[in-house]
Amino acid sequence: MRVCVIGTGYVGLVTGVCLAESGHQVICVDNNEEKVKLMKSGQAPIYEPGLSELMQSNAKEERLQFTSDLAMGVENSDIFFIAVGTPPLPTGESDTRYVEAVARGIGACLTKGYKVIVNKSTVPIGSGDWVRKLVLDGVAERKASLGESGTEIEAEFDVVSNPEFLREGTAIFDTFNPDRIVLGSNSQKALDMMQELYTPIIERKVADDKSLPPVPVVVTNLNSAEMIKYAANSFLATKISFVNEVANICERVGADVTQVAKGIGLDSRIGSKFLQAGIGWGGSCFPKDVSALIHTSDDYGYDAKLLKSAVEVNQRQRTLAIDKLQQALKILKGKTVGLLGLTFKPDTDDMRDAPSLDLIKELNRLGAQVKAYDPIISQSGMRHGLSGVHVETDLEQLADGCDALVLVTDWEQFSKLDYQKMAKLMANPVFIDGRNFCDRKALEAAGFQYVGIGH
Ligand code: NAD
Ligand code: UGA
Repeated sequence: MRVCVIGTGYVGLVTGVCLAESGHQVICVDNNEEKVKLMKSGQAPIYEPGLSELMQSNAKEERLQFTSDLAMGVENSDIFFIAVGTPPLPTGESDTRYVEAVARGIGACLTKGYKVIVNKSTVPIGSGDWVRKLVLDGVAERKASLGESGTEIEAEFDVVSNPEFLREGTAIFDTFNPDRIVLGSNSQKALDMMQELYTPIIERKVADDKSLPPVPVVVTNLNSAEMIKYAANSFLATKISFVNEVANICERVGADVTQVAKGIGLDSRIGSKFLQAGIGWGGSCFPKDVSALIHTSDDYGYDAKLLKSAVEVNQRQRTLAIDKLQQALKILKGKTVGLLGLTFKPDTDDMRDAPSLDLIKELNRLGAQVKAYDPIISQSGMRHGLSGVHVETDLEQLADGCDALVLVTDWEQFSKLDYQKMAKLMANPVFIDGRNFCDRKALEAAGFQYVGIGH
């Protein structure tokens, strides 16, 4: 099938590349010329394991193209994915201006034949109908600009909501091996095209385990599909806040949250995933999506108390490492703290709403010097506008003269560092494990005072 993906960020590029790998003809459109240039040269503008390789092989086999020309993408495709960002506004609601520009833009270059417009971006509930109206506005604007000759322009299309559930760091695996595919639409024709598009994924032809039963497809109306996305992220964020709250109680009563999480997670009604206590959830989606759902609830006069509490618990959790540093070092003014990890989770270069940012800000406010080492940020030279932190390029430099280390991101390599050597380089070998990731005994044997979360 002929597909156009508009917006080549963490979601759009992965979607485009994976659809090409599934055998479709894909055109990826981005209005950022620099990104397009990079992608044309075979480089991914983001760090996502395995993405560059898949991008290059599909481009070579001429199933994948990159352009900044939306009209070219629209003219040569039948299914258009809107995958632009929907970042949070200061009020908590989503900034939908990029979706708006793309929807109008599609309308302004729609060509003959039936088309499907897919909302892949996470958009406020009700956006499906709004996108339809915007596309029609774009069509009308074009007709008006063309005068008499414009009256022949046809606009036969339907809108589908197809929320995305991939996680950064495992985005390709998640796309080829989804737990479910959600399709929201009231048009059977559009739903049939989407089912056909996803057949290789649904039938596990591109799955790691091809013997699994087909991927469940959940068909709903537009509003329910949009709500499923917010409800899924809000549930997962709340689950983490729940375990973090339990961790804080564990610390007070002498229990161990790791054992408690195991003990409750084995109950199949609870499940063991997303019960990793730590310094809170971050990233480009949980914070913004929970806030957006709270904002929507407020719009309807409903006080979403549980979601508000999940956010409140998370805000407190994100600076919990400061309390632990104060307990260990007493005064932070003039002390040097080294952060292990900067990104909001491992295997990504994404710094959006990362807990490290809150820690840096708070440590700076308290007069501490902050150093950091991150496997991707340190090596890539990207600094994402970081300030108040000295980004080191190796771990010995990070440890040198530090009064404490805080493990912020659970990058695999941090589980097996030469901690003995690092402890010797430090002024004060204190280790705050913000993700309960390292082996307490090994760290203590290396000479550290080890402090975890919820122990
Ligand atoms: P992103 O910021 O990484 O990428 C957005 C891309 O859109 C950028 O490359 C930008 O240049 C491009 N863009 C903006 N305006 C454009 C326009 N008018 N024409 C063409 N391109 C344009 O965003 P993202 O993280 O990929 O998220 C995209 C959407 O998917 C958001 O709504 C997000 O909530 C949702 N989502 C994200 C994830 C994730 O893991 N990042 C997972 C699920 C859902
Ligand atoms: C999350 C969801 O898991 C995806 O399904 C969704 O598509 C995506 O948001 C989105 O809408 O963007 P992602 O943000 O990539 O994916 O990463 P997660 O693995 O969910 O982690 C989010 C945050 O929660 C990270 O800061 C992570 O460290 C934290 N986390 C996760 C915990 O603190 N404990 C856990 O047990 C799990």
